[in-house]
Amino acid sequence: MIPLVLVGAGGFGREAASVVAAINDDRSTYDLLGFVDDSPDLAGHEVGGIPVLGGLAILDKLATQVVVCTGHPGNYTSRRSLVERIGFAPERYATLIHPAAVIPHSTQVGPGTVILATAVATTTVTIGCHVTIMPAVVLTHDDVVGDYAIFGAGAKLAGGVEIGVGVYIGSGALVREARSVGDWSLVGMGAVVTRDIPPGEVWAGVPARRLRSAAMPADPLKSYGDPS
Ligand SMILES: CC(C)(COP(=O)(O)OP(=O)(O)OC[C@H]1O[C@@H](n2cnc3c(N)ncnc32)[C@H](O)[C@@H]1OP(=O)(O)O)[C@@H](O)C(=O)NCCC(=O)NCCS
Repeated sequence: MIPLVLVGAGGFGREAASVVAAINDDRSTYDLLGFVDDSPDLAGHEVGGIPVLGGLAILDKLATQVVVCTGHPGNYTSRRSLVERIGFAPERYATLIHPAAVIPHSTQVGPGTVILATAVATTTVTIGCHVTIMPAVVLTHDDVVGDYAIFGAGAKLAGGVEIGVGVYIGSGALVREARSVGDWSLVGMGAVVTRDIPPGEVWAGVPARRLRSAAMPADPLKSYGDPS
């Protein structure tokens, strides 16, 4: 059994824990020791029956694998900040794929990525590191997904779509073939993306139009593994 700790005891942390449980039901793989979370009121308590071991500092004392499980539409840059604070090499990150997701061998999936039940990659998809893919997401041939991207439930990409680093694709959004969504942009729930979206913008609607600028991290071009 591989010892594992999940960083972030919120909703996505509990969802990742349920992926771990499903993987273990299929084949005993991970020993989930608990959550790590900086919220002072959580330390020493349980969340969903799983202990919160303490804040981020405790990770230095643990020789476990790790997955960072944060990121909601209001603060979807948080995962990269946490990964940078933790500073672990890629080998320390687990890749969690629910047994009921359909991810063929032709698809690459990076470390730290979590894929929930019923997500599908059809063929030849490249999925980066620390990506979150919620249920019923469909990625199709030749799609490329950058590090730290997040897909809400039911989002679907046509073929040859390029999703930049840190992009948030809202629930149920659709992206037309061969389009791109620039780094750290957010696509609203239910949007139909027919045009390329530049970096750092929020688009929504049918067809999707620009709503406003997105909250970019200070160094938006830096990707996972780049030296600080
Ligand atoms: C696009 C989004 C980020 C906008 O949020 P916001 O900046 O707080 O904007 P507001 O809610 O103030 O809305 C601004 C305007 O855009 C419209 N709007 C917001 N979201 C929209 C959407 N998804 N599609 C169409 N119009 C939308 C609002 O109706 C409002 O229009 P108005 O000015 O005519 O009243 C947000 O609505 C969204 O879709 N987030 C993704 C949620 C999601 O997918 N969660 C998944 C969890 S797994």
